[in-house]
Amino acid sequence: MSVAPRAGNGKITVPDILSRKLHRLSAIPEKQQKIACITAYDYPTARLLDEAGVDILLVGDSLGMVVLGYDSTLPVTLEDMIHHTRAVRRGTRQALVVTDMPYGSFHVSLEESVRNAVRLVKEGGAEAVKIEGGERRVELIARLVEAEIPVVGHVGLTPQSVNALGGFHVQGKTSDAARQVERDARAVEAAGAFAVVLESMPRELAARITEKSRIPTIGIGAGPDCDGQVLVFHDLVGYATEHRAKFVRQYANLSAEIAGAAADYCEDVRSGHFPSDAESYHSAAELRERVPASEGTESQ
Ligand code: KIV
Repeated sequence: MSVAPRAGNGKITVPDILSRKLHRLSAIPEKQQKIACITAYDYPTARLLDEAGVDILLVGDSLGMVVLGYDSTLPVTLEDMIHHTRAVRRGTRQALVVTDMPYGSFHVSLEESVRNAVRLVKEGGAEAVKIEGGERRVELIARLVEAEIPVVGHVGLTPQSVNALGGFHVQGKTSDAARQVERDARAVEAAGAFAVVLESMPRELAARITEKSRIPTIGIGAGPDCDGQVLVFHDLVGYATEHRAKFVRQYANLSAEIAGAAADYCEDVRSGHFPSDAESYHSAAELRERVPASEGTESQ
């Protein structure tokens, strides 16, 4: 495995992510490494992913669906995002921690949106925020950048727009729709975003956007030509996700592992095979002689 260029203590920063694009544009082959991003929502997962060398840990509002059991991301609150970002941040030493601004946290006024983003940074420990939407978010992105909060844009399929879009569909399939996605990507870049997620769109469209943009594109369901890729952790490891989208590559089957472990445990408890004597605490020898078993035992 090649190693990403990282300054000093190895902590990945916003300028490091941006520089991947600059290096790609200036065609220095050894520095052209793509950006690997995975979602994370808790401390142990963040630790494992960080130690595995993931560049960006995204505390995605997909949290609502894969962890909290909602059928969309819409019910996720700012408090949820702060809570989970804190846990991820505690488990992260090197990766850049980016947190989604959830639905409703940036739709009322610019002032309230900036206040909410500041909370994600100050209380959650987010190092950048991600905002769904393109041209409509230009003013907000500029205000956040002015407030020293780095922003990742997100265009194409934006799951917070599920009601307006009428479902989770591939975007940019007609020439008009493709032009709109391109305008959205250009707009978030011009507003000051340092990277942009391209979700669920034809490979050719994502390649065109990537070719033209000066900030890294991070694709999900957008083909292999983006500057980086992101997957939802639960999809990647096969952890209790019922529907597998075409673009998901499942690298493990945790559902089967967990179900098997739980079934074995139930069996052992019911048959009396768990716990064994070796898995039990014992009274001191002299107490064992004096106290009859029925009066209880003392833990060591
Ligand atoms: O919420 C999320 O996990 C995301 C990724 C799918 C990009 O936005």
